[in-house]
Amino acid sequence: MFKRINLWKAGAFVGSASALAGTAFAEGPTLGVYIWGDNQHGLIDTNDGNLSIRTPTRVPFLDGQRLRDLSLSSMVAAAVLKNGSVVQWTHPEKHDVVLKGKSVKKVKVTNDTILALSSGGDVWSWTKDEKKPLKFKVNDGLGWFEKIVDVDAGEDHVACLTSKGRVLTGMLRQPDEHNGQLGQASFSAFDPPPRPFELRLVKLIPEQVVQTACGASTTLFRTVSGDVYGCGSNAYGQLMLPYTFKNTKVSVPTKSTTRLNGGLGPVTNIAAGGEVTYLQTADKCLVVGNGITGQFGTGSLAHCQAEPLQMPLLTGLEEYNEKLGKVETASPTLWSVSPTHTFVKLSGGSGSWFVWGNNLKGELGTGKTAKLIKPTLVGQLENITANSVGDTFVAGNSVSACFTKCT
Ligand SMILES: *[C@@H]1O[C@H](CO)[C@@H](O)[C@H](O)[C@H]1NC(C)=O
Ligand SMILES: *[C@@H]1O[C@H](CO)[C@@H](O)[C@H](O)[C@H]1NC(C)=O
Ligand SMILES: *[C@@H]1O[C@H](CO)[C@@H](O)[C@H](O)[C@H]1NC(C)=O
Ligand SMILES: *[C@@H]1O[C@H](CO)[C@@H](O)[C@H](O)[C@H]1NC(C)=O
Repeated sequence: MFKRINLWKAGAFVGSASALAGTAFAEGPTLGVYIWGDNQHGLIDTNDGNLSIRTPTRVPFLDGQRLRDLSLSSMVAAAVLKNGSVVQWTHPEKHDVVLKGKSVKKVKVTNDTILALSSGGDVWSWTKDEKKPLKFKVNDGLGWFEKIVDVDAGEDHVACLTSKGRVLTGMLRQPDEHNGQLGQASFSAFDPPPRPFELRLVKLIPEQVVQTACGASTTLFRTVSGDVYGCGSNAYGQLMLPYTFKNTKVSVPTKSTTRLNGGLGPVTNIAAGGEVTYLQTADKCLVVGNGITGQFGTGSLAHCQAEPLQMPLLTGLEEYNEKLGKVETASPTLWSVSPTHTFVKLSGGSGSWFVWGNNLKGELGTGKTAKLIKPTLVGQLENITANSVGDTFVAGNSVSACFTKCT
């Protein structure tokens, strides 16, 4: 069912749109999982040979299901079922339950690799073809009652946040080179990376970390006081460090030296994917990195941006809350960032989402292939609203999904 929502910015009416409310009309699209975008590996539709599917397409075996989580690339998708087991599929008609009885709460797919975090704090990983979950080994001792509570991954690495505000990093595979994205001085960008599936503590951040975010080959850390540290590739300015030869690969977590901390106030949220990094402060949204995909959302396609750019379209939004009968501020709260495009959910009762970025494979769900260089309300995209139902959107590399979360 679609709910009508109205959005204002600085008192001016921005537009109204249908927000996906997560329940289905009998005759409309039904509760389940929908995917669209890159179909070169046959993930979405194997019948008509289309290399890109621009219309949300149902995943039949998940009809009627709510999920704990979902993540995908153009090669493989993985979902956490209501019972905490992980199912993966590479084809709409075949699927495998790969991890059972571990009470998984989060999955993250990167290229051909799937990562899962259990409620107990174990991190598992496997490739789409092997389907044999391996548990990451924690090489540094954690404290009493300290466990991993969140995980994110780049192309080749993972970052795990613990309940004590510390971060463990490790490799997912063994590439020839790395960029220092593990933030461990003993494995600098000039040394070979450590063996995969081993996690080590990141030292040298003098404060508690409350959030981490991974780009393709970067790791960002937000501390309790609102500072941001980063390591890995700064080739496009994605660590907010001045663009110098020395800063191309940063092996030690380094505090952002931009205007950010002085001029913009403490950072309250971070997100990253591919070569872009987003930051939020109490009243602003900012972006750095490579904007060639349109993911800056400012209209700029600059390919190297180290100084945070403000995203005016995501600032100062207000929504009418029907339940409370009043207008309330709506700021971005939940980000899903891939190397190609970005979804973000607004706080507030309507549950509306924005989408923007690259669209070469139809991943934006507009039914066309033109980029969106400005954040656009998903509820205004007819092809998505007419063909899918869900309350959560997920960006993968050239693909998108929508599903309904378990309550
Ligand atoms: C398949 O491709 C054709 C053009 O090649 C297009 O008209 C059609 O809409 C595509 N189907 C889907 C489901 O995207
Ligand atoms: C969860 O559901 C899946 C799919 O029905 C099933 O294969 C799996 O065994 C279940 N897991 C547990 C722990 O019951
Ligand atoms: C993704 O996986 C494929 C095959 O599994 C591999 O050929 C390719 O190099 C990988 N790409 C990246 C960016 O890791
Ligand atoms: C949107 O989806 C419908 C299927 O419901 C499809 O037939 C139509 O071509 C799509 N619109 C565009 C603009 O491609």
